[in-house]
Amino acid sequence: MTVALSRFTSKTVLKLVAAAICSYVVFSILLADREVYYSTTKSVLRAGQNQLVKENGFDRINNETLGFQHIYAIGMPERSDKRDYLTLAASFLGINVDWRDGVYPDSITEKAYPERLSGSGVKPAAIGCWRAHMNTLIDIVQNQYATALILEDDADWDVSLRQQLAEFARGVRTLTNNQAESKKAPYGTNWDILWVGGCASGAKKNETDFYVIPKDPTVPNTKIRGPWESEAGPSDQWMKKHPEWPIDSTRYIYRANMGCCTFGYAVTLEGARRILAELSVNYLNLPVDNAMSDLCAGSNRPRIRCYAPFPNLIGTFRARGYVSRDSDIDQWEDRKFEYHDAQAYNMVFSTRLNIHRLVAGEKTVYNQWRETPDPWSKAEIKPGELEYPRGILVH
Ligand SMILES: *[C@@H]1O[C@H](CO)[C@@H](O)[C@H](O)[C@H]1NC(C)=O
Ligand SMILES: *[C@@H]1O[C@H](CO)[C@@H](O)[C@H](O)[C@H]1NC(C)=O
Repeated sequence: MTVALSRFTSKTVLKLVAAAICSYVVFSILLADREVYYSTTKSVLRAGQNQLVKENGFDRINNETLGFQHIYAIGMPERSDKRDYLTLAASFLGINVDWRDGVYPDSITEKAYPERLSGSGVKPAAIGCWRAHMNTLIDIVQNQYATALILEDDADWDVSLRQQLAEFARGVRTLTNNQAESKKAPYGTNWDILWVGGCASGAKKNETDFYVIPKDPTVPNTKIRGPWESEAGPSDQWMKKHPEWPIDSTRYIYRANMGCCTFGYAVTLEGARRILAELSVNYLNLPVDNAMSDLCAGSNRPRIRCYAPFPNLIGTFRARGYVSRDSDIDQWEDRKFEYHDAQAYNMVFSTRLNIHRLVAGEKTVYNQWRETPDPWSKAEIKPGELEYPRGILVH
């Protein structure tokens, strides 16, 4: 009883914290069909591709859309600073990003609200955020894209994202028992959401199946992770049973029962339809990420198939400066003049923290904790030459 109670309490606390965090995450995007990659950087990055990617039919992950059919980025049109930064970072990954405008809450008539949204307490800016995601999902459905990745304009990623995604894809294919899928679908398509970038994700308490990537050099130890401490992942019971896969150095991939923040997530066509059917056609009473989380859990909603890496592969970046500039959702009136350094939570070899080195054509990039690199990582690496470990399925 005590156990159940404390679980319930910590879950509630996590949810509250999640709601607070989600709403300070931001959002932006646009510039249709702009070619954002340069052939030189592209060939440098491709030359360094992990051999494993080529071996096993995961080679589509090397393409301009990371093996998805399309990549969107969402941002408020006036946040040209964020567009510049994401577009520049994307050019080093060699991806082609389709920008979509964030939505001003005033531009949505209350008549168009899903049931229960009026009076739900969801903040106007979060309603705009919901709408921007729905607009993007509608575009996927209209174009009948088999899969698409959606980024928010603050997204950041490790310089080794392609290698990480290849192993992530292998994990998803393993967990979904889908080894036979065509080479055209490196991640398979028997899922609804791949929640690759958020501030938290968690597995069901009794989940037994985890694809584990041991001693991942792009995983930071738990003491230096953010944005908050209680980060979820496998259950405590599972961790106790499997001390050989320690939480500090292992990346876990699993069926997610909870997610928060939408820095980056992929959907299938089926997934896009299911989210729209629930969060637009049916009802909405929470910010969009919390409502998606309910879908992943099947909590008051039909359960959909969500998979996530832990820690997250796509993070959020906050440029050095005042808190007031970070979010287009929250105004943070009381903290306007708080100043912070650049922040790239959980990104060991952050693309954005290394942007000046990349632009200068330096051969190496730095670990953001290079003074004290974790024993399973390095202080400095050559992009593309990182030896990314192979994962295995653990029950
Ligand atoms: C990348 O590969 C995916 C999966 O096969 C495909 O749907 C997409 O069209 C490819 N992207 C490009 C730009 O060729
Ligand atoms: C986990 O618990 C749920 C009920 O909460 C049950 O439906 C499911 O079958 C259980 N899964 C396993 C693997 O035991």
